[in-house]
This record gives sequence, structure tokens and C-alpha cells, in this order.
Amino acid sequence: MNYIHVEHRGSVAILTISRPKALNALNTELLQEFSTALDSLGEARALVITGAGEKAFVAGADIAEMRDFRSVEAVDFAARGQRTLEKLEALAIPTIAAVNGFALGGGCELALACDLILCSPQAVFGLPEVSLGVIPGFGGTQRLVRRIGSHRARELIFTGRRVKAEEAVAIGLALRQEADVLSAALALGEQIAANGPVAVRLAKRAVLDGDGADLRSGQLAERNLFGLCFATADQKEGMGAFLERRKAIFQGQ
Ligand code: CAA
Repeated sequence: MNYIHVEHRGSVAILTISRPKALNALNTELLQEFSTALDSLGEARALVITGAGEKAFVAGADIAEMRDFRSVEAVDFAARGQRTLEKLEALAIPTIAAVNGFALGGGCELALACDLILCSPQAVFGLPEVSLGVIPGFGGTQRLVRRIGSHRARELIFTGRRVKAEEAVAIGLALRQEADVLSAALALGEQIAANGPVAVRLAKRAVLDGDGADLRSGQLAERNLFGLCFATADQKEGMGAFLERRKAIFQGQ
């Protein structure tokens, strides 16, 4: 792969987006590699995504590639980006964006498709698409609204205003600011990975199934997934270990 590197640290996979010449901007080839990389995470129990270099997480979709698009090509490009981020969002294991710099346009949209967003003090978020004469195309108008609420999202989408780390945390766009964001994301991944892996995956499934559903349907999904946990060895181990006052050793089945 040219632009995507995956490294495993224990049970946590780290996916690095590396296209330094364009501040890690997302072009078609990079999106294809990203999608392929999501299929090959093996036994990882959490995924951390970050950008290579000091300056950027991802500075957006590739403006040079998009400039001469006809409408139909733009629709195809947006569909590719949306499919890729839907795949990321639906990944069975929890995902953490370690935002180490600019997360603009498609970069902000990529972070929004992750379960959790941590950011460095240098992080800058934003959906500047309207300043380029277009609108967000990789899910930004949908996921930003869901993440920070419609009122705040509309302001950022209509103005294209950039948001620094402190404000991103204050409005709930990022979970918290960390001086060493990659280490913090890894530590968070390890904390997640120490739990029953099947339970973590089913908990994520329950959250995703409830997204946009009414309370009754969401709770129905939740109790069925709760029931499914009782078919696992991890449930016997987790509850047994608690009652025997020892640390659980989960096999992930
Ligand atoms: N696409 C293509 N190339 C990009 C890029 C992008 N999104 N962002 C940066 N680059 C390139 C620059 O063209 C420049 O290349 P050259 O050295 O060959 O000229 C290189 O990366 C470094 O960038 P700058 O010189 O601009 O760096 P800077 O420090 O002065 O500014 C920045 C950094 C504020 C992030 C600025 O690069 C910038 O504003 N980038 C564009 C951000 C943006 O508008 N993103 C949204 C894209 S549209 C989108 O994403 C649509 C969608 O929803 C699908």
C-alpha cells in the first residue's frame, strides 16, 4: 500500500494515513487502500486512526482530483467516500480517531465516522467546503449534526469556520485534548481491549442499531444482544471471575 500503514501493538491496531505531500488528503487510491485495510485488521480489539506528520490528520478530500469533476464523477467520488466511511463506522471493533492536526472537510468527516475522537492541542477541525463552492460530501452534513447537535453543526457547515482543540472538546466534537494524542489513543484502545471482546463488539452493535431508532426498537435490539452475550464463554468467565474475586481472562468467544 502507498498511503496506508497498519501496525499492531498488542490488541490495538494503528492505521496511519500517510500522504505527506498533500497533508494526507483523501484521493481515490487512498480511499481504496483505506477500505482494503479495514478488511485486514485480524484479531485487533480496537483501532486507532491517525495522520502521518506533524501538521495534519487529514486535510480533506483531494481538491486537485476534484477540481475538474463533472457532476456525475462528483457523485461517484462522494459515494465512494461515503461507502468507505460507512464501512469504518460499521466496523465491529471500537475505533478511535487520534486527531494530530488539521481535520478539515473529508478529514473531519473521517473522524466523525469513528466511535471516539481524541485530539492534540494543535488539532483544527472544520467543514470548509462552502468556501470552495461545494458542500461536505462524505457524510459531514449528517454526522456532525448527530455528534454536536443541529444548531452548532449548521453554524460550522454554513460558515466553514475552523474549530481549535479547546472548542472542539467544549462542543463535544472531540472527547478530550491530549498532549500526546497517539499514546493517549493507544491507552484508550488498550483499556477497551482489556474487556470482554465479544461484549465490546455487541455493545457497539447496540449503539449503532439504536442510532436513529425509537427507544422501543433500540431497547429491543439491546435486550437481544444482551441475551446473545450469555451464549459466550466470556460471559461465564467475566461473571465467574467477579464472584471468585479474581481477574477475568477473556478468550474472545
Ligand atoms: N487536497 C489536495 N491538496 C491539499 C489539500 C487538499 N484537501 N490540503 C492541502 N493540500 C496540499 C496543498 O495544495 C499543498 O500542496 P503544494 O505544496 O503542492 O502546494 C500542501 O498540501 C500543503 O498545504 P498548504 O501549503 O496549503 O499548507 P498550509 O499549512 O499553508 O495550510 C491547510 C494547511 C489550512 C490545511 C490548507 O492546506 C487547507 O486549507 N487545505 C484544504 C482544506 C480543505 O478545504 N479541505 C476540504 C476539502 S473538500 C472536501 O473534503 C469535500 C468533501 O467533503 C468530500
